[in-house]
Amino acid sequence: MNIELLSARDPGWTEWADVIVVGSGIAGLTAALRLKDQVERVAVVTKDVLQAGSTQWAQGGIAAALGEGDTPAQHEVDTLVAGAGACDLEAVRVLVGEGAEAVRELIEWGAEFDKDPAGNLSLTREGGHRRDRIAHADGDATGAEIQRALMEAVRRAPEILVFEHAMVVDLLTAADGGVAGLTIHVMGEGDADGVGIVRTRAVVLASGGLGQVFSQTTNPAVATADGMAIALRAGATLRDLEFVQFHPTVMYLGEDSRGQQPLISEAVRGEGAFLVDWDGNRLMEGVHELGDLAPRDIVSKAIMKRMLETGHPNMWLDARHLGREFWEKRFPNILASCEQHGVDPSADLIPVAPACHYASGGVRTDLWGRSDVPGLYATGEVACSGVHGANRLASNSLLEGLVFSRRIAEVLPGELRQLEDPAPGAGRVLVPGNALKQLQETMTTKVGVLRNATGLAEAIDELEQLGSTPAAEIDPAAWEATNLLTVSLALAKAALLREETRGSHWREDFAERDDAGFAGHFDVRLRDGETVVSFTPAPATDRTTSTMAGA
Ligand code: SIN
Repeated sequence: MNIELLSARDPGWTEWADVIVVGSGIAGLTAALRLKDQVERVAVVTKDVLQAGSTQWAQGGIAAALGEGDTPAQHEVDTLVAGAGACDLEAVRVLVGEGAEAVRELIEWGAEFDKDPAGNLSLTREGGHRRDRIAHADGDATGAEIQRALMEAVRRAPEILVFEHAMVVDLLTAADGGVAGLTIHVMGEGDADGVGIVRTRAVVLASGGLGQVFSQTTNPAVATADGMAIALRAGATLRDLEFVQFHPTVMYLGEDSRGQQPLISEAVRGEGAFLVDWDGNRLMEGVHELGDLAPRDIVSKAIMKRMLETGHPNMWLDARHLGREFWEKRFPNILASCEQHGVDPSADLIPVAPACHYASGGVRTDLWGRSDVPGLYATGEVACSGVHGANRLASNSLLEGLVFSRRIAEVLPGELRQLEDPAPGAGRVLVPGNALKQLQETMTTKVGVLRNATGLAEAIDELEQLGSTPAAEIDPAAWEATNLLTVSLALAKAALLREETRGSHWREDFAERDDAGFAGHFDVRLRDGETVVSFTPAPATDRTTSTMAGA
């Protein structure tokens, strides 16, 4: 790995690479490692340091049919059931079929997962899984271990160029509409003067999600929907944006707490913890056959319902019976994070409430990670490959990044474009960085867990208002706020049009799932600067939640 800082270059500098990978989590680094021997010059760009993205924060683990008696077919059923009839069946089959091999490669690259006393992978269970199939590392630090292993593998590969503190501002397209390069701002260089151009033959977007759209999220500060907004402006389609997953058990730190909140992994419930209300009643009893391990949307809804009924701002997770010793061994990081907030989970109930966790939608891709823009690929949370549908199954996200980055690396070298001249781009208006607070407020109160037509329409008005005040200064905060605004508007519009409740999309005014009207996807494109949302019906094969006999 060659870490290069792009700083101290003349304004208007240019660089080149055959392939630029945007983002440095599991999806981005897997793509770079798999491409490095196939193309001459691969560069990874990341707007912070390599480990700053969401992968590092993943606690629970990575799901794959690795255990005795488990099969891809069973993993497929659980994925489809969680996805609530909105998954792409072929994509799910790719994910579960190639998952185990992809995890084994990760182990070859140096990731160390926890083992049982017999030396086999120690597998646990999370919501929606009917089998123990979640591999984990250092108890509850799976993402950090994967990130470490991948970064070390990249360090051993000097041919991979790494540009840290480099924020992608826009994608440049050639006269034929395909990829020609990226404009990149060197973070810390103040204003637009730090922007240069990296010309390229292909771009792999692996830049993560949109968590910062909401006031409370488990996502790090860098999750500002940049990749989705950049792709949309370049002509790509965004799909399933309305399916934002709210994790049921995020530690509740008070109503004024903003930004990244501490996650209490579903694996804690996998090990026996359960949810209770303020009177000590079990919350999930009688709600779902899997009880506290029901799919995530069902648990989040049960918590929210009880919060609304009782007027309490949170519910409780009871994990006291696991005991101090078990906590220290199995969940050392969650324990430390609880203690930092004055909670000893072996003696106290943990206050929890749902918070934004994962974007199931994103840049629409085919089974090989290709977007609609020639030369633009997407993988990981920024992408919508079709595997998550309306509600991602726990621990399928790390796997998706891994599997689809490997697939991109299979086809991309054979599809490399010529290095083309960028065509002149349309100018655009930025909103000021300080619009972010209002944006998050609007999205959280009106486009959050519980939605209705009035709130969504108000949110769209408020967001459009925000967009009508141009930024006085061009800086990273303005670029990020503009990206978040672009994606928020698209998300709110799709959520308004989806007049049903399905998976993580919960409409108070349309409480039932409506397969006759809404079995399909809302696709968002930009036409002459306007967000256009259209509906694409799903093929009949995708509409089932289960294709397995007896499932
Ligand atoms: C968790 O550990 O509960 C989160 C895992 C995931 O989001 O898949």
